[in-house]
Amino acid sequence: MTRHFLDLHRLEAEVLRVILDDAHARKQARKGWPKGRADADAPAKDRVLAMIFEKNSTRTRFSFDAAIRQLGGASIIANAGDMQLGRGEPVEDTARVLSRMVDAVMIRANSHEDVERFARVATVPVINGLTDRSHPCQILADLMTIEEHRGPIAGKTIAWVGDGNNVCHSFMHAAPKLGFHLTVACPADYHPDLHDLAKGGHHVTLTGDPRDAVAGADVVVTDTWVSMGDSDYEARLEAFDGYGVDDALMDAAAADAVFLHCLPAHRGEEVTDAVLDGPRSLVWDEAENRIHAQKAVLAWCFAG
Ligand code: CP
Ligand code: NVA
Repeated sequence: MTRHFLDLHRLEAEVLRVILDDAHARKQARKGWPKGRADADAPAKDRVLAMIFEKNSTRTRFSFDAAIRQLGGASIIANAGDMQLGRGEPVEDTARVLSRMVDAVMIRANSHEDVERFARVATVPVINGLTDRSHPCQILADLMTIEEHRGPIAGKTIAWVGDGNNVCHSFMHAAPKLGFHLTVACPADYHPDLHDLAKGGHHVTLTGDPRDAVAGADVVVTDTWVSMGDSDYEARLEAFDGYGVDDALMDAAAADAVFLHCLPAHRGEEVTDAVLDGPRSLVWDEAENRIHAQKAVLAWCFAG
């Protein structure tokens, strides 16, 4: 069966663990190597990854491109607006054509449903590189970063403070699979989607109070209050007043709590410079780990 990587709740817990372990192992195995050198096993040798972007990207774009090269393969990158997709060619026809030309496709899309439609027709692995609904690749890198610094993720408590958005959804999807607890603090009008919340089961708690959420938490996470595609910037800034992560909020978490942010950060909005650049911040490791996590996702897809 073709191995798609669309959402974390659709993967077996064992598969998530295998992917995370492979990400750790691949990072360890190439410490000190030049970034362009391929891993010893080169599991993507002779494979081509296509990447389609409907939205902006720095980390996802560069990490997947570096990842496929380190796995021994090659990439083709296109902005959707430059493709016939941008002139109305159906998603399904695009999927049929690309399945004849490349070995896997990563898509960053405005609409989650478009990625689902693509995957229903594609005969090669399809990877969700962020949609309006979820960002599963990011969460692998985040969990990997937590494990590097604080040990196994099972049993940890993560506090999400801010918008109940796509990144938050993927954290909720992962919580029951990997056995951690997630406390989400968000304003009432910006809570996570209830279907996604339900996927977290009793591993996810919702609150309106950031201080409640971070009490005893091992990890504090936030993200922009205005995601790509959101238009209500002023209303959001007002609604999220009091939800910014600053040193006082970090002090209310566990004594050795760490801070994560998928980036890009809006300094002075959802997080202060002092936290982002401070000793509890792991955001640069987190960004680097996108490469290692993406390699593990690709290796898993190609092993199918
Ligand atoms: N975190 C993340 O996905 O970053 P980009 O939007 O730069 O890809
Ligand atoms: N929630 C953000 C994440 C960016 C990586 C967005 O969708 O814009």
